[in-house]
Amino acid sequence: MTQDIFILGATGNVGKTLVSQIFEHGDNNPDKHVNPTRIMGMASIFGPDMTKGYIFSPEGLSKEQSLAFSNQETSEYKVFETLDDVLNEVKALNNLVFVDVTPDKKITDFHKKIIEETNHGIVTANKNPISLSDYNTFRSLTVDPTRYGYRCSVMAGAEAVSFLQDLNDVNDKPQIIQGCFSGTLGYITSELEKGVKFSDIVKKAKAEGYTEPHPRDDLNGLDVARKLLILARTGGYEVEMDDMEINPLMPEKYFAEDDIPKFLESTSEMDDYFAQKVKEADAKGNTLRYVAYMDATSGKPKLTVGLKEVPKNSALGSLKGTSNKIEVISRAYPDGSSYSVEAPGAGLEVTAQNVRRDLLYRLKDRKFLS
Ligand SMILES: NC(=O)c1ccc[n+]([C@@H]2O[C@H](COP(=O)([O-])OP(=O)(O)OC[C@H]3O[C@@H](n4cnc5c(N)ncnc54)[C@H](OP(=O)(O)O)[C@@H]3O)[C@@H](O)[C@H]2O)c1
Repeated sequence: MTQDIFILGATGNVGKTLVSQIFEHGDNNPDKHVNPTRIMGMASIFGPDMTKGYIFSPEGLSKEQSLAFSNQETSEYKVFETLDDVLNEVKALNNLVFVDVTPDKKITDFHKKIIEETNHGIVTANKNPISLSDYNTFRSLTVDPTRYGYRCSVMAGAEAVSFLQDLNDVNDKPQIIQGCFSGTLGYITSELEKGVKFSDIVKKAKAEGYTEPHPRDDLNGLDVARKLLILARTGGYEVEMDDMEINPLMPEKYFAEDDIPKFLESTSEMDDYFAQKVKEADAKGNTLRYVAYMDATSGKPKLTVGLKEVPKNSALGSLKGTSNKIEVISRAYPDGSSYSVEAPGAGLEVTAQNVRRDLLYRLKDRKFLS
């Protein structure tokens, strides 16, 4: 059976890469797949006037139509006010999977509508609907794993979410989750370890495009906190953001600066502080990492994110550059052992491929070619 998909955010970085992968790898080719992918539609916001546009065909879009839309090389699209207009257009379809590769923070109600009022599914790389909402919303969105895939919300789709879903389902809830879930903060701490000045690292990370448009959105730790919240919830814990202790990399007062060049200049005030922290850690054989940590060994989980000293030769201490890592301890991993995965935490090719993998898990009749 064909898997019909509708891509939201198709002109974005991940969206464009996803569309080109689908055709490059022949996901749409029935000779290569028992369950080929058919792109029914795409929606995005584009152009200098921020037009909200979509295309849809009840027979599926051609490769040419799909690539032209995702590369913004067509004017043949319809304008939509809200995603409800798009939903209205596809109401005759059954078992469509919406792919959310937008960074939209207000798309939660749309996800809810899909799950509660239709028989469609969702695969999301957008972590906002499951991390900005309360536990009950998280639960109602994710309760049916055949309809809601969110592996790409953490570690760009490596086996973090899927492992914790399974662990909870075999009734072996995680007792400890720890990890480094930010490529930017991984890069910063790795460079600090080499003795580079904090302000030079942040400026270089910004110049190389490793940071969010405003670097405070990495340095404030919120993105890491959202990922830890998703993982703790996935592991079976009823937790809210208010339960989390968030220790930003820099004091909050610096984040009030909206002007990016001025903000970057202000980071030099932290150079001596970080040089001293690195020196103190080094003297003990340790290094600094920005660690997300959940400890549920005594019942209600304690959740923290922040800068931490870890032994240089430990799993997190030996992590290099922008790589991400998760370590999980549960009853099945006694005596200092753990489940652990290291993977790139972002990257367009990896993320788009893992979105395609997540789509496979939404198939109700998945078969391999014999
Ligand atoms: N980049 C990575 O390596 C990576 C890894 C894992 C997860 N993710 C997640 O994947 C998502 C996409 O990332 P990205 O780097 O591709 O972002 P991006 O380049 O900003 O692309 C997102 C696209 O979605 C559009 N959009 C926003 N709201 C929309 C809506 N309601 N309906 C339809 N389209 C909408 C955006 O338009 P405007 O730009 O005009 O708003 C933009 O074209 C984000 O949630 C991100 O956190 C990214």
